[in-house]
Amino acid sequence: MGLQSDAGTDLAPRVLANPDLSATDPAHTDLAQTALTKSALAHTTLSHGAPAQQNPGPPGRLCPDPGAPDLAKTTGPAPPALIAGLRERLRQVRRHSVDLIEPLQPEDLCLQGMADASPPKWHLGHTSWFFETFLLAPHLPGWQGADRRWGYLFNSYYDTVGARHPRPQRGLLTRPPIAAVLAWRQRIDQGLDELLAHLAQQPLAQAQPLLELLELGIQHEHQHQELLLMDLLDGFSRNPLEPTYLDGAEGPEASYLAASHRGVSLPLASASAPTVGLAETGDGSPTASPWRAFEGGLVEIGPEPSDPAAFHFDNEAPRHRQWLDPFALASALVCNAEMEAFIADGGYQRPELWMSEGWATLQQRHWQAPRYWRGDSEFTLAGLRPRRPEAPVRHLSWFEADALARWAGARLPSEAEWEHANRMAPLPQAFAALWQWTASPYRPYPGFSPAAGAVGEYNGKFMSSQFVLRGSAYLTPAGHARLTYRNFFPPASRWMAAGLRLAR
Ligand SMILES: [Fe+2]
Repeated sequence: MGLQSDAGTDLAPRVLANPDLSATDPAHTDLAQTALTKSALAHTTLSHGAPAQQNPGPPGRLCPDPGAPDLAKTTGPAPPALIAGLRERLRQVRRHSVDLIEPLQPEDLCLQGMADASPPKWHLGHTSWFFETFLLAPHLPGWQGADRRWGYLFNSYYDTVGARHPRPQRGLLTRPPIAAVLAWRQRIDQGLDELLAHLAQQPLAQAQPLLELLELGIQHEHQHQELLLMDLLDGFSRNPLEPTYLDGAEGPEASYLAASHRGVSLPLASASAPTVGLAETGDGSPTASPWRAFEGGLVEIGPEPSDPAAFHFDNEAPRHRQWLDPFALASALVCNAEMEAFIADGGYQRPELWMSEGWATLQQRHWQAPRYWRGDSEFTLAGLRPRRPEAPVRHLSWFEADALARWAGARLPSEAEWEHANRMAPLPQAFAALWQWTASPYRPYPGFSPAAGAVGEYNGKFMSSQFVLRGSAYLTPAGHARLTYRNFFPPASRWMAAGLRLAR
């Protein structure tokens, strides 16, 4: 996942790194997410992408795990439970995407607040395009596709598939109407059901590549569910009426607040940084140590070959060794009160705290606080809400996170530190609260090679000029997070649900 930049008060469109997602394209609210999310499909190790050609053949395994069974020797059909599990997850994910627009008004469906964002209707169309282009059109006999011109409208960034409508102009697509897009979704769902029934009759080794593509389609749709909500938050934030998307226990804001109750205070060590007195958890109990120390040494990060049932994108592999010096991570994310202390101490007026590019960006875009702060309140998907001092600060750029960490006498963790620490024992707020900026540039792991064709466009071509975020957020859908997940965004982006955890 990883996309682009934000506008907020900034009006100049910026080039998105991963226009389609990132960050995915991730989204909504499972507080019970665990460090490792298993897919129902064994041995799935695809990247976030799809096959390259117009009529792609079976993609095969993109990231073979040495420890996985040799499917080429499997002669029987796929286990019925595997097919049934995949079918049920597919139905749930497809249904959830449509459920997300239920609270919206018709006019909201074409809302595009900035060039980096996409309208809700486009997300619903694009995720259907993905299944039609890479699965149904090439692999379901007799499939009757949508109007061929829709491929131009709903292709995101797959150059090898063909030309596409300019991203900044997706909000102009009042046609096709939502009714046509939803009808298309229903046809896609029926087609996927037929394809699954067809695959269930084939030897598993033969069906495996398409089963992997179906799993990839599920993961891709997860990402767009998160994108839909973060894009909507951006769009609504530009409306003087300060609209509410969804309030109450089922809304994203409830998920964020639930996650924020895991916080403890942070040990701000800067000479100028006041010690913020939030040394208690959300329930008022005393906190444990605000730091957790780790010995480091030679560690391994990336998916474990011994766990072939876990899905991962190609950018999370291959597993490899990293040397870590002794380090410590904060037990909680930096909270709003600590950001307020940073601001009160002139954090946004002190160039010595900022990277040069960040300082220039701050001046150009007139940053004075995180993206959605408004006085003592902040704009949320539940409308304008009082800002809670103990809740983790959110929707800020890598530049702001980096400056805040420096002011606090700390630093951002590397992604290897983050993954190793949470593999040892998950830290509070590791998942479901906010994506956490790391100090690591988004680059390929040693030995990474993108798959040939369009699948290779999913992640590999975005591995420049961005930083990695780890964990997951209150907008991330259930079942999407995992320990090895590498989200990525340009350092000036602020509209995704990002926060920070300090390291030293
Ligand atoms: Fe996409």
